[in-house]
Amino acid sequence: MILSIESSCDDSSIAITRTSDAKLLYHKKISQELEHSIYGGVVPELAARLHAKALPDILEETKDFFSELKAIAVTHEPGLSVSLVEGVSMAKALVVALNIPLIAINHLKGHIYSLFIDKPKSVFPLGVLLVSGGHTQVLHVRDFGNIQVLASTLDDSFGESFDKVAKMLGLAYPGGPIVEQYAKSGDERAFAFTIPMQGPRLDFSYSGLKNQVRLATSQAGVLDDKTKSDICASFQRVACEHLLQKLDKIFKLHQLSDFAIVGGASANAYLRAKVQTLTSKHNICLHVSQLEYCSDNAAMIGRCAIEAYKLGDFVSIDDIRVNPKMHF
Ligand code: KG4
Ligand code: ZN
Repeated sequence: MILSIESSCDDSSIAITRTSDAKLLYHKKISQELEHSIYGGVVPELAARLHAKALPDILEETKDFFSELKAIAVTHEPGLSVSLVEGVSMAKALVVALNIPLIAINHLKGHIYSLFIDKPKSVFPLGVLLVSGGHTQVLHVRDFGNIQVLASTLDDSFGESFDKVAKMLGLAYPGGPIVEQYAKSGDERAFAFTIPMQGPRLDFSYSGLKNQVRLATSQAGVLDDKTKSDICASFQRVACEHLLQKLDKIFKLHQLSDFAIVGGASANAYLRAKVQTLTSKHNICLHVSQLEYCSDNAAMIGRCAIEAYKLGDFVSIDDIRVNPKMHF
């Protein structure tokens, strides 16, 4: 069994995964959303202190598995440095105490493996749309170690733009699920936001759309619930349409038979439905993670670590580094 730790942002999570068949034997996550929401975003120093409290509390529940552990896996990149350090320190202490190997896992790769939690086999090659709070990328994943970037955002990420729009409208953090909720009762054509970067380039950009929303919000005056819903619906339609336009180009350029959406924002039902329609048009099979594993969690880190374990991809406690800014 592998014990995995995730603490890259504002979720403290630990999982136990069986190496033989990828079965998830234990998983717990303590989210810090409530503590950060009053500040309208994640406060790094607070996040680190909350990890320092939550991780040992969760670890205590896994003591019965200790004698059967074969390795400890931990997210070491990318993320908030002070948050990553909490998980990495715990992982180092555990490998010293239990005398077993240490595995360093890339958080983004972890999101990809959220697709295969509880599944012994993975599906590759795979096109992947990664939409989280920190990243918006389309990847071509040939296997565990072979990942090519097909498109990336030039500025804000997809999830981050939902968080910022929520903040402008006086809604809570994280903004994604709340904006999606408001959008359900809104008119998605009420505000004529323009779709960013409609030229041939494959990059994404969300800062211009964010500014369009800011302007509309200030011009709308008093923001009643109907106006908020209309802004959310119009923003969500354009934010997703931007992704879809680029995906359509990518599907024409690359012969993909399998495609997946992963990351916290892949929980968005509107986005899922739109990507499903597009992949069906291109005869591509769409894969998505279970909703509970879209946002940050240690189960995906454990599932990814099985592949590293099979390859003997271990790191010493002296060599493991936290790498906050890493991107593919
Ligand atoms: O993957 P994740 O949990 O953390 C990072 O690695 O960043 O993603 C969190 C991001 C936040 O920006 C959040 O607002 C967004 O995912 N998100 C959503 C939805 N649920 C979460 N964005 C749009 N629609 C959603 N339903
Ligand atoms: Zn994430």
